[in-house]
Amino acid sequence: MVVGRSRAKGSDVEGYFLRRLEPTDDNIAACVAAIRRGELVVMPTETVYGLAADATNPAAVRATFAAKGRPADHPLIVHVSSINQAKALVREWPNVSDDYAARFWPGPLTLVVYKSTTVDLAVTGGQETVAIRLPAHPVAQALIAAAGRPLTAPSANRFTRLSATRVEDVDPEIAEKCFAVLDGGPCQVGLESTILDLTGEVPRVLRPGQITQAELDAVYGEAPKPRMPGSHPKHYSPKTKLVLVDELGDRPGLCLGPATAAQISLGTDPDRAASQLYAALHELDRRGHETIFAEIPPAGATWDAIRDRLKRAAESDL
Ligand code: TXA
Ligand code: MG
Repeated sequence: MVVGRSRAKGSDVEGYFLRRLEPTDDNIAACVAAIRRGELVVMPTETVYGLAADATNPAAVRATFAAKGRPADHPLIVHVSSINQAKALVREWPNVSDDYAARFWPGPLTLVVYKSTTVDLAVTGGQETVAIRLPAHPVAQALIAAAGRPLTAPSANRFTRLSATRVEDVDPEIAEKCFAVLDGGPCQVGLESTILDLTGEVPRVLRPGQITQAELDAVYGEAPKPRMPGSHPKHYSPKTKLVLVDELGDRPGLCLGPATAAQISLGTDPDRAASQLYAALHELDRRGHETIFAEIPPAGATWDAIRDRLKRAAESDL
């Protein structure tokens, strides 16, 4: 399927065409029309930029996998604008889902539940479960609500690459396959949503994020063990080789404390560090070093999600 791309208005970013739109009412309406035609739109969310498509249109879903170069068995998250819209996608909605939704939606939490037949197996990579999220970003909410249907939205990066938390970090290979890139500014959270599987006996974290295990436990009332997703260890990777180190010294890369010119400091506040992480890695990637290094963040739950992403980016066994 050829997805639409308009060359009427836009700018050249690093040699590629990118139709970047401010999220005005008119522009959102144009993006909604494109999505309803089966085209793809890069949309801002509070976590990372997403590659949005009509979840009810199998051709649009296939185009999403193609644009990302993502294997078909790697399921997509379905984004909704209301809890009722979420309930329409599921075979059963456990009571505890309402508790998590009430506490964390809209926000950076994805719930995995059994899907209803309305969700195409192409969306779920052939699985009987579906991952659902109600994002907090007003532009994402406006887009989903006006589309009047749920939207699939994987992170707007090629498979295994770094997610984008700024429009300028959206891979041109992705952008050129889209109707437009809606510019919602820098993503505030900066790490992908926490994924919580509600299909087992106890809720289980499949991907750590800003919402910590302790916050989830406070809702559930007990402490199930986190399980990291194991299917594809290499993920969130810069193009340059990344090596994790205890101390950076004067090598180029990411640190938490004071930085030299060849280094970028994420600072010592984990929330701020999360919001800066991908932009910093994209920037280091552009500098053309043979290898970049990253200081291992301190132990402690507040750094878990960042440690997880760095470990995957370096594909090491931290
Ligand atoms: O913050 C986010 O979640 C962002 C923004 C755009 O919303 N989206 C995102 O999507 O990170 P993506 O496709 O890059 O990552 C989705 C993750 C994958 O690791 C996938 O395996 C997991 O969600 N996933 C999706 N459906 C699942 C399911 N039914 N069961 C278990 N894991 C699932
Ligand atoms: Mg992703």
